[in-house]
Amino acid sequence: MREELLKIKQEAEKALAAATDSAALEQVRVRYLGKKGELTKVSRSMRDIPPEERPVIGRLVNEVKASLESLLEERRQEVERAEKERRLGAEVIDITLPGRVRRPGTPHPLRATLAEIEDVFIRMGFQVATGPEVETDYYNFEALNIPSDHPARDMQDSFYISRDVLLRTHTSPVQIRYMQAHAPELPVKIISPGRVYRRDDDPTHSPMFYQVEGLQVDHGITFGDLKGVLLAWARAMYGEGTRIRLRPSYFPFTEPSAEVDVSCTMCGGEGCRVCKGTGWLEVLGAGMVHPTVLRNGGYDPEKVTGFAFGMGVERIAMLKYGIDDIRLFYANDIRFLRQFGGIGA
Ligand code: DAH
Repeated sequence: MREELLKIKQEAEKALAAATDSAALEQVRVRYLGKKGELTKVSRSMRDIPPEERPVIGRLVNEVKASLESLLEERRQEVERAEKERRLGAEVIDITLPGRVRRPGTPHPLRATLAEIEDVFIRMGFQVATGPEVETDYYNFEALNIPSDHPARDMQDSFYISRDVLLRTHTSPVQIRYMQAHAPELPVKIISPGRVYRRDDDPTHSPMFYQVEGLQVDHGITFGDLKGVLLAWARAMYGEGTRIRLRPSYFPFTEPSAEVDVSCTMCGGEGCRVCKGTGWLEVLGAGMVHPTVLRNGGYDPEKVTGFAFGMGVERIAMLKYGIDDIRLFYANDIRFLRQFGGIGA
């Protein structure tokens, strides 16, 4: 009996040592310490031994049982620790990985530039007016003093919808539309931002681009008012030190007309690659509204005068941000777009 008990003890110890997971340990427990296990069987067979040996064997059974139970508990803790480690290893949680950040969008550089231009003029008291992108020959050309045989039409290769309807080639038709809708109200003081279309396509010209038109009509408006407004705009846009320069030019809808340059935004007028060594950048066309245009708008050129201007937004944005290819604005490359303003830029 004693030998039998010691054999059971040895076997159980070996089995406990060999069990490497909770399920295996539980099997060992049932087999040796369970209700129908080996030790219970020994206790049951106590009846068959002489009564005087019973206490000794009984004590031995209890000792073996206690010893196995404490060994089982020890193994259980070891096995559970090992299982936990295996589980963590399998889940592969790398707490050093950066979190998933949801990035807010950024304003498109053209929209941002447009908003800035509008802001400056709104602060000077201009209202924002708009007109259709699909325009009639009359508003786009005729009413602006560009008759059908006028060579100035060649400067604006157009997309025609039909003989008399086209995609507007500039925002100037809004001048006529606005004046006709408001004459004889004074003052007329508007800017008109929007898309325009021309049959051009190269690194500095896109078939669709943005312009901002300006028009102020009132009693006694002079060329000096035009210069003052444009200088104030240029300084608000590019900094207080900015200068402007007006060169004589020609537009059918203004007389006199001028090309307006701003001192180079890159070199400040010293001369660099961007201004091609001249120190000046051409940014817009302007002039005093032609009497015919005022008349077509419903105003009497003997009583009122006005100035007008038109600027290309892409060009202004390209100069502002140092962008050398206009097509970047429309390519929707997120790496390009993310570089402009906004939270998370
Ligand atoms: N409409 C002209 C263009 O697209 C720009 C322009 C020049 C507008 C002079 C004006 C102006 O109002 O006075 O080329």
